[in-house]
Amino acid sequence: MKIIFIGFMGAGKSFFAKRLAERLGIERIGTDELALKKSGRVSIGEIFDKDNEIKFRELEIETAKELREKDNAIIDAGGGVVENKIILDYLRENGIVVFLNSSLEIIEKRLKDDGTRPLFKDKEKYRRLYELRMPLYKEYSDITVGTGGMIFFSPDETEKLLDNIVEKIKNHTDKPKSTKEEKL
Ligand code: S3P
Repeated sequence: MKIIFIGFMGAGKSFFAKRLAERLGIERIGTDELALKKSGRVSIGEIFDKDNEIKFRELEIETAKELREKDNAIIDAGGGVVENKIILDYLRENGIVVFLNSSLEIIEKRLKDDGTRPLFKDKEKYRRLYELRMPLYKEYSDITVGTGGMIFFSPDETEKLLDNIVEKIKNHTDKPKSTKEEKL
């Protein structure tokens, strides 16, 4: 099984991908980490500063292509993958796409002191990105899970949310194939 987590910055993709991978006993792969390794830079911020965003997106394409045939893994994808259908198509091949959805108000609180995300610095810009991407996350996902209730997740809340994700994945995989195709 290949599960791909998508969603806006700060929606909890890495956090829940790690916890779900532990629970299912499978590998968790972060596209940001792989793209960074390829870049030779020390951070994503440095790629944006010293190279540019295009360079980062090229590295994301390379990374996604390598993950195309991956199985038995949770892939935690950078928030921008939905803007590039090629990246998304590579990642989601034979996989289930889970959209982690949070309101921007909660995300702003979660990322208040975060300096690691180059696209979460200018309020106007990230608001526009949020508006632009929301319909794309919805369009490209098989399952949506709300992670918006809290700023941080207690162990209990984390477990509950994981139960919810697992159940939705199970319902989706149990669905007859024709129903899934209708959605496409
Ligand atoms: C980005 C999101 C980041 C990272 C890069 C660009 C985006 O990942 O890929 O800073 O375009 O939304 P997270 O969603 O894990 O923060």
